Amino acid sequence: MKDIIPRDLWEYKTADYFYQLKNLFRKSGNYNQLYLAIRNLGVCLPINTGRAALVVALKALKLLPGSNIGVPLFCCPVVFEAIEKAGGKPVFIDCEKDNFCLSVSDLEKKIKSLDCLIVVHMFGNPAEMNDILKIAGRIPVIEDCAQALGTKYRSKTVGKLGSISIFSFRSGKYISAGEGGAIFSADKAIFESSSKIIQRLPIPGRISEFKHMSKVALKSFLRQRPLYGIIGRRIWSAVSNYDSISRRRSIYLSRIYKSDLFLIKKRLEYFEIILQRQRKIASIYLKELNISEEMMSREKPGTFCNRIYFPITFPSRSLRDKMAELLLRNNIDSMKYLDGLVPVARKYFGYKDDCPVSESLSERVLNIPCFYDMSEAEVGRIIDTFNKNWKQISA
Ligand SMILES: Cc1ncc(COP(=O)(O)O)c(C=O)c1O
Repeated sequence: MKDIIPRDLWEYKTADYFYQLKNLFRKSGNYNQLYLAIRNLGVCLPINTGRAALVVALKALKLLPGSNIGVPLFCCPVVFEAIEKAGGKPVFIDCEKDNFCLSVSDLEKKIKSLDCLIVVHMFGNPAEMNDILKIAGRIPVIEDCAQALGTKYRSKTVGKLGSISIFSFRSGKYISAGEGGAIFSADKAIFESSSKIIQRLPIPGRISEFKHMSKVALKSFLRQRPLYGIIGRRIWSAVSNYDSISRRRSIYLSRIYKSDLFLIKKRLEYFEIILQRQRKIASIYLKELNISEEMMSREKPGTFCNRIYFPITFPSRSLRDKMAELLLRNNIDSMKYLDGLVPVARKYFGYKDDCPVSESLSERVLNIPCFYDMSEAEVGRIIDTFNKNWKQISA
């Protein structure tokens, strides 16, 4: 039996399943009055997924069909899919190599062609919002905070800085609740417009809700120890590649499953505690990993990163892949987060090879496990294994 440290945290437990089951039969009032409060942000509109939230956010801005939506190439392709689902066209913008977020200079070059901009706070790092908002001027800015719950930019919580923002609570992210998304806007008209769109979406019935919960539970158990090492990892590698995901065009919009919403609310209660623990693990990595400064992802001055992931930028693809292989040989999984991104963007979303930094990063970044419930011994084992192998392969 292989006890592999998983690449990310799927926190769903048997108790969560029973908690959801109990809530399935709970009367919780009118669907139109379901809200979600996020600390330091405010009242948000819940929806079934983060990608659905993006589609609604784009629609709420009432853009013309075929509008050009600026989006960083270095992000999950479901974002490109959401743009197309909302009737827009992605215009790809490069990213900065030190924070993995939108490149200010490339945005400056492309701004004239844009009708709207999506800013992704990638890996929990906040994008350079002051510069970006200045360049964006009057065009609406959507903040994609799917990976950035709790992140701050110049003491301000991200999600509040643009016209509208979205969040994701899918497992593997901070609030590992199976699925779920949310929308926030401080602009009353945009908030109302989003709310109206959501109110027209289908409400999941009890049977569909029960099936959804059971699917989430099954997937989550496969992604956790002990099943992850025995069989889950192999199943995951076989079914999850971007190419097949993009061919499926899988964005479905519905109201949030109530069982997900209750679990998200419960998890949000102790979010601050897990955030601090996870940041502590990241700070140990920053201190103990024997790698060069260019490989390390440090917080830029004036920013607060939630450390949802711990990305390391290798000098080459072959060194990254070698390290991933050696970690796995020592029962430590890792994530080549956007490997395979570029061909998918080219093939399905009209990417024209004008984002060299993002292309290079997609081949060189590896995220090592960084989640709050790892033990000190596990963190130590990852550091020792990494340092020992890096010394050898970088020589
Ligand atoms: C940056 C980013 N935006 C949007 C999404 C979509 O969120 P969800 O998976 O909840 O649909 C994800 C996650 O997959 C993401 O990483």
